[in-house]
Amino acid sequence: MRWRAVKAGVRGFRLTAGAYLNAMNNQSPRIIVRRSGPLSGNVQVPGAKNSVLKLMAASLLAEGEYVFTNVPAIADVDTMSDLLTALGVKSKWLGPHELSLTNSGNISTEAPFENVDKIRASINVLGPLLTHYGQALINWPGGDDFGGRPIDLHISGLQKMGATIEQNLLNINAYAKELRGAEIELSFASVGATENILTAAIYAKGTTVIDNAAREPEIGDLCNMLVAMGAQIEGIGTSRLMIHGSKKGSLRGVRHAVINDRVQAATYIAAVAIAGGDVQVRGARPEHMEMVINKYTQMGVSIYPQRDGLRVMAPERLSATDFATLPYPGIATDYKPLLVAMNSVSNGVGIVTENLFPGRFRYIEELCKLGADIRIDGHHAVIKGVDHLIGAAVTAPDIRAGAALVVAGLAAHGETVISEIHHIDRGYDDLVGRLSGLGADVTRV
Ligand code: UD1
Repeated sequence: MRWRAVKAGVRGFRLTAGAYLNAMNNQSPRIIVRRSGPLSGNVQVPGAKNSVLKLMAASLLAEGEYVFTNVPAIADVDTMSDLLTALGVKSKWLGPHELSLTNSGNISTEAPFENVDKIRASINVLGPLLTHYGQALINWPGGDDFGGRPIDLHISGLQKMGATIEQNLLNINAYAKELRGAEIELSFASVGATENILTAAIYAKGTTVIDNAAREPEIGDLCNMLVAMGAQIEGIGTSRLMIHGSKKGSLRGVRHAVINDRVQAATYIAAVAIAGGDVQVRGARPEHMEMVINKYTQMGVSIYPQRDGLRVMAPERLSATDFATLPYPGIATDYKPLLVAMNSVSNGVGIVTENLFPGRFRYIEELCKLGADIRIDGHHAVIKGVDHLIGAAVTAPDIRAGAALVVAGLAAHGETVISEIHHIDRGYDDLVGRLSGLGADVTRV
């Protein structure tokens, strides 16, 4: 096997005084992290990005007011809000984490490019628009760049329900006078495809069955909201969802609390694991994080369920571990950058296999700039733990990888300066404030 070494020469990437001044003179915001720990105190886990955006899109299914609580203060919520506003839904903040959306029935079925291009979850308007209004014109969605992110399973599922779908390089035009229930077996348990077929099935004639449906907790959250709106769904939380079509006009707006974010919870656990300390991660839901908690435990982290979350205690030194990413309940691909950052300062060698997005290794080059010893080959990475990292200037390539670089910086001597932090802002509600609250030396400039 020929390994492609991406390990960067440590000295070549040290933050020289000149580079530091250049970085500081640049106006775009950055996060500066200095070696920290032990961390202490408690941190509250915010609502989940990967849930709230889909819940918001579901407001296109029925007229009425929707009030969402536990809404994370993240840029993607604003983007989804802008997209829904452009489609005719009125949006209003009722408090820092409480958002009202009103669908008064005057809805456009053409999603503007500038909104769709920014986030992957924009594709979630497809199912609701198509089933309720019979048409949807939407550009190819944007979002984190993990290499190819096809939507063929969304499209073939909707076609099986009777939709006509035209695609060109720019956009997707879907229409159907009426959708009909169908038996759809997904060849891969795709989160997005499950959600779009699920929402499209709400007004389809008859019953739709989705086999090999994704089982992520955020899909359960969406199903629970749809049921509260009046939809009929069986098999919630399982890989076989059965949706009995409802009459248009029979669903209503609801009040719904967004599920807590298991990836943000995992981020704070990783921060304690790397920096050391004893912290309460409030609002973490262990039942949604079983596999990743097992991995953290294998690495030496002590994690105890408590009445409202988890108590996390770091070991003297982490132990390296092997893992492969898989759909839920497997280790989510979104946890991977955190576990890779932890492995990079662990005792031993860990082998990581990415099974969902083969292109999702771009941050490894950035971790190597901090002195991590990582080699990648195709969808595998081999991480040899080093004693400590050394601060450097790095760039956040996407949401979770950006957060992992901040966490890695806690174990780096000197200063780590992370740029392109707009990626982190897309999915993290005040990462800097929350880490500082635990005693970490992290600032935003
Ligand atoms: C969602 C999450 C993302 C997370 C991912 C996997 C949102 C906004 N994003 O992305 O954070 O990393 O789940 O947990 O919720 N696939 C196909 N054809 C399709 C659809 C997917 O082949 O039509 C493949 C993808 O290439 C990938 C795998 O299925 O290999 C998983 O994709 P999917 O679960 O759909 O991820 P997203 O919904 O895009």
